[in-house]
Amino acid sequence: MTEREELEGGIAALEAQRAVLGDAVVDTALAALRARLARVDSPAPQLRPVTILFADVVGSTSVSQQLDPEDIQAVMDGALRRFTSLVESRRGRVLQYAGDSLLAVFGFLEAREDDPERAVRAGLDILDEANRLEQQVRERYGRRDFNVRIGVHTGPVLLGGGVDADGSIRGIAVNIAARLEQAGPVGRLRISYTTYRHVRGLFDVSEEPPLSVKGIPDPVRSYIVLGAKPGTFDGSTRGPDGAETPLIGRDAELAKLIAAFETVRAQRTSSVVTLVGDAGLGKTRLMLEFERWLAARHETVARFHGRAPAYGTQVPYGLMRALFSRRFEILDDDTQAVAHAKLTKGLGTCVGDRGEHIALIGQLIGLDYGANPHISGIADDGVQLRNRAFHAVGEYFRLFHAQNGAPIVVLLDDLHWADDDSLDLFDHISQACRDVPMLLLCLTRSELLERRPSWTGNRSPRERLDLGPLSEQSSRELVESLLRRLASIPDALRDVVVSNADGNPFFIEELVAMLIDNGVIATDGAGWDVATDRLVDVLIPSTLAGVLQSRLDALSAAEKTALQRASVIGYVFWDEPLERMAPGATRSGSRSRFQRLRRRARVRIQAPPVASGDLRRRAQGREASAASPGRTVAGRQERRTVRGARRTHRGALRARGRHGERSDVLA
Ligand SMILES: Nc1ncnc2c1ncn2[C@@H]1O[C@H](COP(=O)(O)OP(=O)(O)OP(=O)(O)O)[C@@H](O)[C@H]1O
Ligand SMILES: [Mg+2]
Repeated sequence: MTEREELEGGIAALEAQRAVLGDAVVDTALAALRARLARVDSPAPQLRPVTILFADVVGSTSVSQQLDPEDIQAVMDGALRRFTSLVESRRGRVLQYAGDSLLAVFGFLEAREDDPERAVRAGLDILDEANRLEQQVRERYGRRDFNVRIGVHTGPVLLGGGVDADGSIRGIAVNIAARLEQAGPVGRLRISYTTYRHVRGLFDVSEEPPLSVKGIPDPVRSYIVLGAKPGTFDGSTRGPDGAETPLIGRDAELAKLIAAFETVRAQRTSSVVTLVGDAGLGKTRLMLEFERWLAARHETVARFHGRAPAYGTQVPYGLMRALFSRRFEILDDDTQAVAHAKLTKGLGTCVGDRGEHIALIGQLIGLDYGANPHISGIADDGVQLRNRAFHAVGEYFRLFHAQNGAPIVVLLDDLHWADDDSLDLFDHISQACRDVPMLLLCLTRSELLERRPSWTGNRSPRERLDLGPLSEQSSRELVESLLRRLASIPDALRDVVVSNADGNPFFIEELVAMLIDNGVIATDGAGWDVATDRLVDVLIPSTLAGVLQSRLDALSAAEKTALQRASVIGYVFWDEPLERMAPGATRSGSRSRFQRLRRRARVRIQAPPVASGDLRRRAQGREASAASPGRTVAGRQERRTVRGARRTHRGALRARGRHGERSDVLA
């Protein structure tokens, strides 16, 4: 864990204890932690995709006119302090205060895929808090006009640098967030369409009339967030609005999943199949298709779903909790009594009156059974608690099968975010249920295997399936399917999507959605139309940029620098010029760095090499361009270096008599 993560974790933990410790203690401790956080963070100026939140206390002018200066200070400072805490407890960062408003950013130093979701949740928290404060102001001062307006937008900004380096943030995205806030109704949270696309399916929203923003040609589509949907386990939905596409190009992979299930069923044994693939390649989609296949069978199959919460590696048994919560419909905001009742009812049919098992499982997944007599005696003995709870969970699945007779399929998604304890537990379940027809289908990005190489180890019954990019043919089919409402699809349009998406269906969907948003494809009529003349500059859409940035942020500093340097050379690069750009770097050092990047699928070796001795590599262009130093201020220096590197490179090629091959490599 980095120092910053530790500090952020500490701030969030303190916030959670506010009710117990009281404001005075928490605020004092927080001030010290925030000061340290500010010292840890001195970001180099860079362009980053972030989510921006503006909150403004409205009616404060009349409050100011009516109250004593001391009271005003108490009300306003108290409110902004509370809002800041709420932002921080969702891992956002307040960068600026101006008068009665604040500006916060999610994804400040490290982008996470759920930045927009956390920003919207923080906005809703602030609205709730404002309601409470309004009531207090009314009770204490007899004034009513205290409320907030909030705007949230997702987009690229330039962070750091300038005279006010610490809190500096620039870019049109900031203006959009500010405008959304200023134009929003009092007591409401207004978000842009871009943010909405990230959080679709998680919140109830109502669409607002488009908003014109100075400096932007087209009006900004926006939504009012009415509240969070309950039981939002499945996360946001992907894909362009209302464009359901058939599953394309995955027949072989689907057949393998079906075969794994048939084996488990016929041999009455457990098996763990792990599907490994990059973000957006279609793991979840393949799982859904497999589920459809299961559902269409005559024989009943018991299905359990667990999806690791985003960045849930720090939450012990978070994945197991997600699985039982989904199965027994336990909601995050259920009271303890309600959650206990749901767990008892859910498990009860399989563990009968074994109160001990219920308490052990409940305690394990964080439902606090500390006062239960089965737990209180062993609460201090972590090992015993864990062993007994593991046994109880294994027993639950065994008894479940004994009662129902149906094969069991456990579907575990986003395992790269799973906590180690849950992974141990699922290991245990697969062993304890060796004689139960049970398929554990796990979906993960390759990060999991770096953290836990043994997960797909050779020992039976474990199988690893790799999901690669779609073929060019399948990519074309997907584009055609998404654009089926166009009378005819111009080749240039199809090719621009296919060549930019690198066989990744998520990228294909996002690029199509962006073409629609940019007006290249007009969707208002019954049939769609193409404005080919607008098909000039295809920029990376923000949903995609967020995914890419978070993957880049997960790299070590040395790996990031290596990728940045490589991207300066271009989409295809050689290790030799890279070494020249980094004086002091050894060949073996840079090799091993790229070996790691290769394992993490950030870099591919392109075969065959142009000449023996040269490692010809191809950085995944989408990531390289998201990281491109050309887009950072630090990049200026890199660009100077690259001119030298390109010269060196040309020299090297000439020396080997391959001058003519240069252009296709460097282009
Ligand atoms: N073979 C396919 N045919 C058509 N659409 C697909 C296919 N594979 C994926 N998609 C679509 O692409 C989008 C991304 O797929 P999905 O969410 O399954 O990716 P993922 O691998 O689970 O990514 P992550 O690691 O981020 O969870 C989805 O909207 C999905 O419906
Ligand atoms: Mg997925």
